Amino acid sequence: VTEPHPEPETSLIVYLRTKLGQVTKSDRVSIDIYIFKITHFSVNSCLAPVVSMHDCAVTTVEGIGSTKTKLHAVQERLWKFHGSQCGFCTPGIVMSMYALLRNNSSPKMPNIETCLQGNLCRCTGYRPILGAFKTFTDEQNGGCPMLRKRCCNISLTPSERSTKPTIVRIATKLTTRHRSRYFPPELLITSRNHAATPLKFVGERVTWYRPTTLDQLTDLKEKYPDAQLVVGNTEIGIETGVKGRCHPLIVTPAAVEEISFVKNDQSGIEIGAACILSNLVQQLNKIVEEKEEHLTQPLSAILEMLHWFGGDQIRNVAVIGGNIMTASPISDLNPILMACCATATFMLHSRGTRKVTMNQSFFPGYRKTCAMKGEVSDSIHEKGGESIAVFCYFIKQNSNSSLSWPICICKLTVATWAHSCLNLCINTLICELRAWYMKAYMQSKRREDDIAIVNAALRVKFYHGEWKDELIDDVAAWMREDFKLEQNAPGGMAEYREALALSFFFKFYIHVKDCLCKEGATKDEIASEEQCTKVPLGGNHPVSLSTQTWEEIPENQPKDNSVGRPLPHSSGQLHVTGEAKYLDDITPYADELYMCLVTSTRCHAYVRDVNLADAMTSPGYVTYVDHCDIPGSNECGVMKGDLVFANGKFGLHLYYIYCKWLLERSTYIYICSVTCVGQVIGAVIADTCAHAQRAAQLVKVTHEDIFPRILTIEFYWKVRIAGQEHFYLETQACLVVPQLESGQMEIYCSSQSPTSLQDDAASVLGIESNKVIVRVKRMGGGFGGKGTRYIVVSNPAVVAAKKCGRPIRCMLTRQEDMLISGQRHSFYAKYKVGFTKEGKLTSLVNNIYSNAGNSLDVSIPVMERALYHSGGCYRIPNIAIAGHVCKTNIPSNTAFRGFGAPQAMLIAEDWISGIAAKLGISAEKVREINMYKEGDSTYYGQVLESFNLPRCWQECYQKSNFNERKEKIEEYNSKNRWRKRGISCIPTKYGISFTEFFLNQAGALVQVYKDGSVLLTHGGTEMGQGLHTKMIQVFPRYIGNNVVVKKCSVQLKVASTCLGIPASRIHISSTSTETVPNTSPTAGSVGSDLNGMAIKEACEKIVGRIKPLRKNFPKLSWDDLIIKAYLERISLSATGFYKTPDIYCNWDQDSGECFGRPFDYFTYGAAVSEVEIDCLTGDHVVLQTDIVMDVGGSLNPAVDIGQVSLTAYFILSRSNSSLPNYFPQIEGAFMQGYGMMMLEEPLINERGELLTRGPGAYKIPGFGDCPRRFNVHLLQNSRNKRAIFSSK
Ligand SMILES: Cc1cc2nc3c(=O)[nH]c(=O)nc-3n(C[C@H](O)[C@H](O)[C@H](O)COP(=O)(O)OP(=O)(O)OC[C@H]3O[C@@H](n4cnc5c(N)ncnc54)[C@H](O)[C@@H]3O)c2cc1C
Ligand code: FES
Repeated sequence: VTEPHPEPETSLIVYLRTKLGQVTKSDRVSIDIYIFKITHFSVNSCLAPVVSMHDCAVTTVEGIGSTKTKLHAVQERLWKFHGSQCGFCTPGIVMSMYALLRNNSSPKMPNIETCLQGNLCRCTGYRPILGAFKTFTDEQNGGCPMLRKRCCNISLTPSERSTKPTIVRIATKLTTRHRSRYFPPELLITSRNHAATPLKFVGERVTWYRPTTLDQLTDLKEKYPDAQLVVGNTEIGIETGVKGRCHPLIVTPAAVEEISFVKNDQSGIEIGAACILSNLVQQLNKIVEEKEEHLTQPLSAILEMLHWFGGDQIRNVAVIGGNIMTASPISDLNPILMACCATATFMLHSRGTRKVTMNQSFFPGYRKTCAMKGEVSDSIHEKGGESIAVFCYFIKQNSNSSLSWPICICKLTVATWAHSCLNLCINTLICELRAWYMKAYMQSKRREDDIAIVNAALRVKFYHGEWKDELIDDVAAWMREDFKLEQNAPGGMAEYREALALSFFFKFYIHVKDCLCKEGATKDEIASEEQCTKVPLGGNHPVSLSTQTWEEIPENQPKDNSVGRPLPHSSGQLHVTGEAKYLDDITPYADELYMCLVTSTRCHAYVRDVNLADAMTSPGYVTYVDHCDIPGSNECGVMKGDLVFANGKFGLHLYYIYCKWLLERSTYIYICSVTCVGQVIGAVIADTCAHAQRAAQLVKVTHEDIFPRILTIEFYWKVRIAGQEHFYLETQACLVVPQLESGQMEIYCSSQSPTSLQDDAASVLGIESNKVIVRVKRMGGGFGGKGTRYIVVSNPAVVAAKKCGRPIRCMLTRQEDMLISGQRHSFYAKYKVGFTKEGKLTSLVNNIYSNAGNSLDVSIPVMERALYHSGGCYRIPNIAIAGHVCKTNIPSNTAFRGFGAPQAMLIAEDWISGIAAKLGISAEKVREINMYKEGDSTYYGQVLESFNLPRCWQECYQKSNFNERKEKIEEYNSKNRWRKRGISCIPTKYGISFTEFFLNQAGALVQVYKDGSVLLTHGGTEMGQGLHTKMIQVFPRYIGNNVVVKKCSVQLKVASTCLGIPASRIHISSTSTETVPNTSPTAGSVGSDLNGMAIKEACEKIVGRIKPLRKNFPKLSWDDLIIKAYLERISLSATGFYKTPDIYCNWDQDSGECFGRPFDYFTYGAAVSEVEIDCLTGDHVVLQTDIVMDVGGSLNPAVDIGQVSLTAYFILSRSNSSLPNYFPQIEGAFMQGYGMMMLEEPLINERGELLTRGPGAYKIPGFGDCPRRFNVHLLQNSRNKRAIFSSK
């Protein structure tokens, strides 16, 4: 590609998607660069400036395989092993694995886990992805996708051969073709001069220099002292991309070889400032292997930290100089370099070099170093052993900075510590044996790719004295004084973080004591119960040993009947190749404009002034829209409690006092009020996304605070459950296309509720719903977050499209999405529970409070569901539960998977645990004696039929070996002081139906075309949960059974194989209000039931019509039958409709009494989890999880479990059966629940600003959080009379 006008501000992903016109999904791409040899690595294309790609060959996911040609082995295996759900994360995951295989064709499992550290998936729960990639390792299967038992290269005994079914290759082998790529020869020629040619790119606002020698670099930096030196762009890219800053001059030392080295000689190790971290890892590993262990302790400490440093994509581009010079308090390397008293060399072109020791004065303040203007960091020198004392360096949060994780102020100085050590008279003998010891520690919320909440590097050198236990108390006292965090320090957890500092010292103390003992310097061994601190948490087991079991389908089930079979996701191949189209992949219209929202920065305030003067002069600016532009109603949302744009009607204030357009001042003057940070005030419309964002930043909004501000509902509570961010990978987005001719609006959106969106848009525009068409192709995840809150984007875009008469596109950035679109409700509860001395429940009084935010949205139904589930799985004779929905000044909270039930069930388990603790019996015992039984009534009068919970409970107990493991755990705990293990079994019971009864309806449209192909449309939306896949499975089953199998008994076998419709003949295009009207949201686990039944009804109609024809022509193929039906003028299209029967609930608003049958049925399950906790740091790891879930007769077990593992695949193919389809949902849901309970917590400051915006500050579980062993079993022989094909 030759780009005549390279723009330094443009990232590679934007260039690929917009300028180059390639609709790529690769947020990760693979880069080949030729500098003497071809080097291959993966990078984040959103952080890589396109100009840094000069001379590189870039490979995107589309470039390695496609559905039109052939899938790459990585793509094929991920697809076949059900490694994608919504598919939005999938291209990135494919590219990470692809890059690994390019460099290492027979990786081991730890290599795979490391290469995926920087990838996130919110749907699958990770296990199916790890399962798919495990097939590339030698350990398990010799690299053969058939696994060891089936590999053709492994000889079988005759008896084995007779029992083994025919080998069917399930995936192509990894060949050299998959591992190597062709490097363009023309690039090879230009790349030879890569290092020699300095470059300069001049863009609209930024000039970019790429010098090739140190002399040129220092010269440029002295000439332009304010220029930013950028190599990996992993710090600066966040500033410019996320915070919108602009650095007009950028100089990159990336091509300056003189500062990209690692030198190792007698004087120590010297590392060039532009040394890329992954190269550093390689070089240091070599040195550590060669030298004696005690000489390389700092290097081992660096390597240990680098293992957790970002992900591969960050380490492949970021450099050590960038880490030091950013002077960020979260730096993982600076503490080590300071503890080693490393020397940094600075270079000024006119002066030469200057050496500075990396001590406290090196970092004089937050994000400041002692470097002078114009200086370039040249190298870092680690001398290897000259420190005279322990040096600790801790992160301390700066309370002035709201978002940051600020500066470390180290008070435990070298001098103080050395003095103390001397006083302790350390044994001289030690000094002769070993001079010093060193270790680095860090603790972050998430294990992988997360910033530390505390990190430390500790080093001690012995002269005289003893290393004895009294030291711990002395040091603890000093540290308590030196490392005090203010209670309101950003990031919170002040006490925990202070305690962590002490814990790290204690760990270090034990480590040194152990070393001294091993060397014979002391006979004082560490106690056996402390040995556990030497082993990594959770032991050395690799992750992802797992099994999945389910009921095999009957042997006589016709092959073309796919119900119960584990078909891969219908869009799976499109996901892995990047061909799946999401909203932002829709080709831009020629006259399209982009919208960027202007939102409130105060949580409760009047808006006095919106000044557009600067925005209007910004390039590409077109117009500004706000409530004055709304032709219809400004009130929107499911309860009409939201506003499209702030206008003062909402909240405490009267609507609109004064509005005046002053053209000459380009200013709106009006008074309106806002009730949360992030409330939409208006929107800037511009020609491109970048221009809209830039102009929106220039809109100046003047606020005047209103009091009070109510942010939390904290009070005396027994249980508090934090909220949770949906973190769907595709953010809220829409494209509104006005049809000028008819006044119609066509809206492409990422919404779980097309009909509600249509209603809202019509009301905002003041037109009838028949003029608004809403289309949803697929979503990159929803989890409830796109059920109602799409309004924050769709309504402003509709107004803008109307005003401009041009298509309007908007996709929120991650930061905007997290700020604006609401989260799971946080809950608080106060309860009193009565019970007998045996632990039998007698009564419960429970008051539950939820934080609804600034509008009602779905907070009432969320609370209703919480009330229905707050008894858990237990029979309580006397019960009074009250729900309180609290209005506050935070963005409106909304639906999230489970819809209030998880919060309620957690409260229930809290009182169960309380009873167990009080009576001194196990919580499992209390659960068992109080668990409902078949035929019992719930406290709202629903009789429990086919109550499979006790079966799930027993099976889970048995399959997890609960009792035996509990005994082992007790033994382990008695032997280990600082590590403890725990195990617990928890039951669940979840009601299926919308509690808003009118929503329990669905429609479908089935159209059979003359060639026998079928177009299926239903009211459900596809967000990764595999709904379309299941619906496709329903159809052929129905047609198959009714047209072919049942009615042609003589020809049964032939007919089933020849006349059935394979799933491949059925297509679902998209969900549209044009084809199926008045749809209910796809939510509440009812999507398959409602839409499946509607499809069934539509099929029944068609089947009924062609039945006579089939009778007369029993041998006709499906295609011939259909053409015959057409010629006979039989209608081949039908609508279907379904409403859930017999659900009701009489809820007396006065007495509060509730009686009815609110749920069609319940799903049941039980889960056992075993965890290990580090008592010194609070860190934990899930060792094993076993789940038994009753899903009735699964429509598709692979979808339901969370995707089937390879092992499972083989179990099935051996028995000549097929896979069921439930596991991904269960595994994905488990990981989301794990995140909710253990990892995720949105944080809001006292000004109502969300601090946890973006993946840097808010951590969802990563690959490393997956249970080490993850077993999922579907309850067998469970049939559900009340749902489609007995499924649940
Ligand atoms: C997803 C992600 C994960 C991360 N994880 C971690 C982590 O786990 N631990 C951690 O410590 N950090 C982490 N970081 C921060 C960042 O990656 C590191 O600080 C990295 O080392 C910065 O290097 P860079 O080349 O990308 O810096 P750049 O962004 O290119 O530059 C950073 C700064 O350094 C200055 N600079 C660079 N080279 C020189 C030089 N030779 N002389 C003078 N000034 C110079 C630049 O002017 C600039 O101000 C993470 C960042 C991201 C985006
Ligand atoms: S499949 Fe990974 S985020 Fe949806």
